[in-house]
Amino acid sequence: MNQTTRPLVQALQYFKEQNPVSFHVPGHKNGLLSSLPREMQASLAYDFTELTGLDDLHEAEGVIREAERLLSSLYQSSRSFFLVNGSTVGNLAMIFATCKADDMIIVQRNAHKSVFNAIEMTGARPVLLSPPWDAHTQTPGVLTAELVEEALAAYPEAKAVVLTYPTYYGVAGEGLQEIINLCHARSIPVLVDEAHGAHFIVGEPFPRSAIELGADVVVHSAHKTLPAMTMGSFLHVRSELVSEQKIAHFLQMLQSSSPSYMIMASLDDARAYVASYKDSDKNQFLELRNSFIRELTSIPILKIVETDDPLKLLIRAEGHTGFALQASLESKGFYAELADPYQVLFVLPLWNVQSTPPLQAWNEKIVAAITTLGKVEENPILPDMDAWPAGISMLAFPPPLLTDVETEWIALDEAAGRVAAGSIIPYPPGIPLLIKGEQITEGHIRALSALIRAGARFQGAVQLAEKKLYVMK
Ligand SMILES: Cc1ncc(COP(=O)(O)O)c(C=O)c1O
Repeated sequence: MNQTTRPLVQALQYFKEQNPVSFHVPGHKNGLLSSLPREMQASLAYDFTELTGLDDLHEAEGVIREAERLLSSLYQSSRSFFLVNGSTVGNLAMIFATCKADDMIIVQRNAHKSVFNAIEMTGARPVLLSPPWDAHTQTPGVLTAELVEEALAAYPEAKAVVLTYPTYYGVAGEGLQEIINLCHARSIPVLVDEAHGAHFIVGEPFPRSAIELGADVVVHSAHKTLPAMTMGSFLHVRSELVSEQKIAHFLQMLQSSSPSYMIMASLDDARAYVASYKDSDKNQFLELRNSFIRELTSIPILKIVETDDPLKLLIRAEGHTGFALQASLESKGFYAELADPYQVLFVLPLWNVQSTPPLQAWNEKIVAAITTLGKVEENPILPDMDAWPAGISMLAFPPPLLTDVETEWIALDEAAGRVAAGSIIPYPPGIPLLIKGEQITEGHIRALSALIRAGARFQGAVQLAEKKLYVMK
């Protein structure tokens, strides 16, 4: 297939060139009634809907289907879907397609909140597998095959295994192939949230993609690492265990009936970008990355940590939390993906041969940013790793039952032994520290206290100012 073509982009361009008169939704009428800033208003001229010749995402048989076929051919799936509600909706659809109420589902504990939301919505019962702490990145890592094997032996009735690969921080590990083989030997499908790995298809030194390693369903946030618009994602299926029709069925239930053509066109464009990414582009990326790392390393206080995914860089400033480093970088206009108590996370652009970023100018500004850091913190506040529950655990109370129980807010330091009535999610990265229905331990409290003191942001059932948690009565 000709991967340089962009059927949906071309169809939108052609449609616009006809100067169409809009007597249809959306109400901005090709941007005419919009008073958004000029560039934003101009782009609305492409914000079409399901008009003749523009196909329909939910019954795709024209240009959208053609664009999805190109995507499927690139990733070697049996079917690939465009998603307009991020990997969130991909995670929901793959779990709905495999599980129903009371089914057991094995899930990596450091999954995104959308995975736990999906499990709660289906009423399935999660078996939580906690990977070992990854000391290199100071984050929870990826699962070992041994732990998955133990869980499969204990819960052979599980309907699916849900993995996060790579982690937000770019940890991919070596064990995915073996885990997939173990699951397939028991005819259990492997669903992979590869939100951060849409670019792995470009090959070494990037990790291998889960779809290539034989996972049944793989979800990609194209918008995270490829040049796609926010919310633009892919879902790929290649499986004898998961039905494509079921995935399609849930996607049409869970996604808008008015999907954004701008997002879909950007997915078509992102697919063409990565499909035409050559070794020369990759070499340019690696050279620019090395130069950038060299520049950063020359700043004495900074330490650069590389992970399995070359697109991710962790940057630490000795004696300072990541939050402090993030604030100093922002003072000079550099915005990192996230900060945690140890570091900030940079997501590099997937540079190509045409990229000429002003690395030296950046370096000078970063040097200036670092001078705003202030005094070294003698004891930067670090979370307590033993909060991270080891091995296999279960929720103390399944979330569907929580709707019928009484709840209350209690002081954080009195919460050990109680059951969380809502998840607590440091955001970003969106991985729950406590899952709704999970029993609260002293370790959770220590970690949460440290994160609050260090300045982390949260979503969910915590009142930061009063240091209160939402629990079952
Ligand atoms: C691992 C992981 N999975 C899923 C998601 C949700 O992706 P999206 O924002 O595309 O809905 C995120 C978002 O940060 C994520 O980090």
